[in-house]
Amino acid sequence: MQLFTRQVIDLLTPPLAEHLSPTEIAQLIEVPKIAAQGDLAFPTFRLAKLLRKAPPLIAQDIAQQIETEAFDIKTDGAYINFFVKREVLAETVVGTILDQADGYGCSDEGRGQRVLVEYNSANISKDMHHGYIRGLMIGASIYKIAQCLGYETVTINHLGDYGINFGMIIVAFKRWGDREDVERRGVSALNELYVRFRQEAEDDPTLMKEAREWFKHLEDGTSEEAHELWTWFKEVSLRDYDVVWRKLGSHFDSFAGEAFYSDMMPAVRQELLDKELIFTEDGAELIDLSSENLPNIIVTTSSGNSLYITRDIAAAKYRKDTYDFARNIYVVGSEQRLHFQQLKAILKKMGYDWYDQIVHVDHGLIMLADGKMSSRTGEVVLLNDVLETAIERTRQLIEQKNPELVDKDEVARQVGLGAIAFKELYTSRIKDYVFDWDDALSFEGETGPYLQYTNVRCHSLLMRGGETEGEIDYALLDDDFSNELIRELAQFPETIHFAFERYEPALISRYLIGVAKLFNKFYQQVTILSNVPAERTARLALVRAVSQTLENGMKLINMEAPKRM
Ligand code: ARG
Repeated sequence: MQLFTRQVIDLLTPPLAEHLSPTEIAQLIEVPKIAAQGDLAFPTFRLAKLLRKAPPLIAQDIAQQIETEAFDIKTDGAYINFFVKREVLAETVVGTILDQADGYGCSDEGRGQRVLVEYNSANISKDMHHGYIRGLMIGASIYKIAQCLGYETVTINHLGDYGINFGMIIVAFKRWGDREDVERRGVSALNELYVRFRQEAEDDPTLMKEAREWFKHLEDGTSEEAHELWTWFKEVSLRDYDVVWRKLGSHFDSFAGEAFYSDMMPAVRQELLDKELIFTEDGAELIDLSSENLPNIIVTTSSGNSLYITRDIAAAKYRKDTYDFARNIYVVGSEQRLHFQQLKAILKKMGYDWYDQIVHVDHGLIMLADGKMSSRTGEVVLLNDVLETAIERTRQLIEQKNPELVDKDEVARQVGLGAIAFKELYTSRIKDYVFDWDDALSFEGETGPYLQYTNVRCHSLLMRGGETEGEIDYALLDDDFSNELIRELAQFPETIHFAFERYEPALISRYLIGVAKLFNKFYQQVTILSNVPAERTARLALVRAVSQTLENGMKLINMEAPKRM
């Protein structure tokens, strides 16, 4: 009901001119949870002291001074309740949606502020398994929501391209690998080499020793060969990841990963020493985080190596310097919660007041019915296979249900991938959930295809309705079904706002399901293609507004909206 706040402020400003500024009035306005308390409400408690009068009397007094055609005004104790008249509601909401079109729901509340969204952060040489879908979807959605709210955005894939693992894969490749095979089978071949190394290293300790040496070469830059292999592993991996990213519409502005920060390690260490944050234990260097009620953390190993956390300290500082972010968001699974708590605590101890602009958007796991998901043993389901299966199964469904459909391939892609996207963003991000095919691809209930299908229904009505002529008479949208639906459409901007503040795209997914359900009720109860031209015109305008809202919302949760299916 944000759409009406401005009008209510304007109505309240003259009678309150001596006591409250428009900004103060705005801060006091509430959106009641119960319909009987109006669309917007103004509490008078704050004025009691100033006016030396009981709040209910003040409420009545002010209410009497307000003249308006747009609202019905009732007082309820200390509250003045504003009820938007149905016709006004219809005209404002539907009119705004048609007017703002693609922009409906968005705002410029983030103008001038930069938000970084780090997500995916893939580990080079490892398969992109099904488990990655969660972070990919949450990250891309938060990025789109931030853009819609007018923030400047930078998306980052903080690649896991550094560490002893690369020593292992070099050793494995040199012993058992084949260049052509890796070129042909891509990252899976590298992943297999890694798995084999792990297995063989259990019986042969020299392997680990060799791996350490190769990693050292990589670190010092003393081996051309090591560097060449590492660069190639990265190319091969990114080539395969890109196939998945393209399907999902993932976008990254930066791929600065762990290796990128490796040469900043001495400076970070020096800064920590200068700020007297380091103590030594068994040759390793640690930071004492007891004042933050967190476990102490090693930042330099006894052999002088930096760690994951050390690189994250460098990365945070670099990002602040480079991007001057208002928020630096990390979309990473909840198993790394402690890591990010420690990162924030360290930055705080280092004296960076922006430490609280670091946001760990944590999320739960996706599990397969048979429970397998481990890159160490190689027992993984590849994300690309899941996406292809979703598309293929959808194609089969279309073949059964609608064999005449044109562009079957394109629609199968949009619906199959849409189903997967929706599934990920319907469960609250923090919850683990078990992935189930039938459930994800169903056209009924709370699924992506149901949303898309509802939108297709809108398009087919609009086509069948033909060109509508003349002014829209919004007074004709005053039946209960239209009214309830319009009220829901009005909630879209607030929904987007809160989805961002809580980093919870599921708020949008659930909202869209609500809109779709109300629309389908309206569709069943009201004759949209009425014989009365004025009715048909008004109702089709509402249908167009519903479709626009669904499409805008689907875009924010990484879904496409086919016009037929
Ligand atoms: N690549 C890491 C992993 O798979 C995740 C990186 C998260 N981001 C970060 N800045 N630490 O565990």
